[in-house]
Amino acid sequence: MAGGRERSGRLDGEIALITGASSGIGRGTALKFASLGATVVLTGRNASELQATGRRCEKISGEKPLLITADLSKEEDVKRVVDELTNAFHKLDILVNNAGIYKADSLQTFSLQRFDEIFSINVRAVSQLTALCTPALIASKGSIVNVSSLNGTNAFADDLTYCMSKAALDMFTRCTALELAPKQVRVNSVNPGVIKTDIFQRSGMDRDQCKQFLEGSKKKHALGRVGDVEEVADVIAFLASDSASFITGSCIPIDGGRHTMSV
Ligand SMILES: NC(=O)c1ccc[n+]([C@@H]2O[C@H](COP(=O)([O-])OP(=O)(O)OC[C@H]3O[C@@H](n4cnc5c(N)ncnc54)[C@H](OP(=O)(O)O)[C@@H]3O)[C@@H](O)[C@H]2O)c1
Repeated sequence: MAGGRERSGRLDGEIALITGASSGIGRGTALKFASLGATVVLTGRNASELQATGRRCEKISGEKPLLITADLSKEEDVKRVVDELTNAFHKLDILVNNAGIYKADSLQTFSLQRFDEIFSINVRAVSQLTALCTPALIASKGSIVNVSSLNGTNAFADDLTYCMSKAALDMFTRCTALELAPKQVRVNSVNPGVIKTDIFQRSGMDRDQCKQFLEGSKKKHALGRVGDVEEVADVIAFLASDSASFITGSCIPIDGGRHTMSV
């Protein structure tokens, strides 16, 4: 057996912190991790949606997740998340940096306020949270999965700041993978294409615009459709697990082949 040990892909006994678990990909990841035996610690801003995720996880695993309501763009909230997690478990095996926002902009619509809003959660919070979790992850020889985007690798004229934020996140993945590899901590990203979640409505599109956007996005992915949350959650779970024991510093497209297309 390569790597010298049997791999199961399960997460039994592992403590996993998943940010942005009150919605979309983060919620799907929480459910997947619960089904694989992990003890999940979940964050989000919306307390009732976070509780809804918690109840669904508990139904799957029989275990009540630790829920921490926090705005990760606030320095004090990030510190509190790590304090609460440490007080509860004294251990961390997996960090999934998923919380993030999407907003469209370009040079001609640019505002510093939007730039700061996007970078504060998509980049700054990830950097602060990961740094605070690093001692625990080194102690457990754990794993980090960052939720990046196709926009981290491919340029889109109308997504200037979002693209820059996800490109920064991909470089964060590679630099930290190199830093932590000698400590046997693995760091990887997933780079989804368009996935059906509320993120587009929350970016300011109305219901019809979202519908049109999702419909129009289908043919932009080689497989002829957009993706589901579960298709991302499965790869996050794979990367976090011992099944990916020889993978670090990788940014994995989950985009129905879109990154290979030239139009
Ligand atoms: N959907 C896609 O097509 C797509 C494609 C590529 C990459 N992604 C990435 O996937 C990740 C998840 O997106 P999603 O589609 O699942 O979006 P979503 O349904 O809007 O969920 C976003 C999550 O991030 C949390 N969040 C946002 N800002 C936060 C803040 N300041 N502090 C704490 N939590 C915050 C939200 O919490 P609350 O709801 O509680 O506020 C929510 O749980 C993001 O990083 C996004 O960039 C999505």
